[in-house]
Amino acid sequence: MTSRQDISAMRRQYGEVGLVESDLPSEPLALFNTWLADAAANEIVVEANAMVLSTISNDLPSSRTVLLKDLTQDGFTFFTNYGSNKAKAIEDNSNVSLLFPWYPMERQVIILGSAKKITRSESEKYFATRPRSSQIGAWASEQSSEISSRQELEKKFKEFEDKWPDNTTIPTPPAWGGFVVYPTSIEFWQGRYSRLHDRIQYVRGENNNWHRKRLNP
Ligand SMILES: Cc1cc2nc3c(=O)[nH]c(=O)nc-3n(C[C@H](O)[C@H](O)[C@H](O)COP(=O)(O)O)c2cc1C
Repeated sequence: MTSRQDISAMRRQYGEVGLVESDLPSEPLALFNTWLADAAANEIVVEANAMVLSTISNDLPSSRTVLLKDLTQDGFTFFTNYGSNKAKAIEDNSNVSLLFPWYPMERQVIILGSAKKITRSESEKYFATRPRSSQIGAWASEQSSEISSRQELEKKFKEFEDKWPDNTTIPTPPAWGGFVVYPTSIEFWQGRYSRLHDRIQYVRGENNNWHRKRLNP
């Protein structure tokens, strides 16, 4: 029998480098881009562009990881199956949160916003850049629905592989595409000594300008 871990004793000393108002840009995407680049350059951070997407459906929250694939003034884009649980939840309620957990950097970013589908042509453009096996995988998986066995999934993959031999173009599945999350709030968290962490939240005002405030840790 394995012994129970003492989780309560897990504790880490956070660093000296913090968020100083005089260094901060007036709008958050510039800071986000700097932090994303820092995370991507950090060899301990795996999948720097992985983010936890939380949705609400029938008043119940649910979370899962997706990959950030584009970031513009329109927001944060990820790709998925439009028949999946997350896509159905977004149809129900477009309010979502995104969380980037960059633990090795003692950093976290939490985004609140509203998700909407991107255009079919934008989705097709990205789908065309995906590795062939991922393209076939997207056809083979009816994401979030029950499947009888692993063998069944692999059989479907093989069928689609045979349907589109090498050198043929694999079309974008009708139920596959992107969502873009238009941010209304972006909070940057930086771990500091004595649990006096820095939290800077940017909130979008009615005139589209960002307002910045410091929150208690
Ligand atoms: C690191 C990582 C990256 C992932 N990226 C994606 C992604 O970009 N799109 C996606 O649909 N699922 C992605 N997944 C799988 C999702 O977390 C999830 O299992 C799947 O989308 C089904 O979620 P749903 O049933 O809540 O819709 C990823 C999982 C991990 C661990």
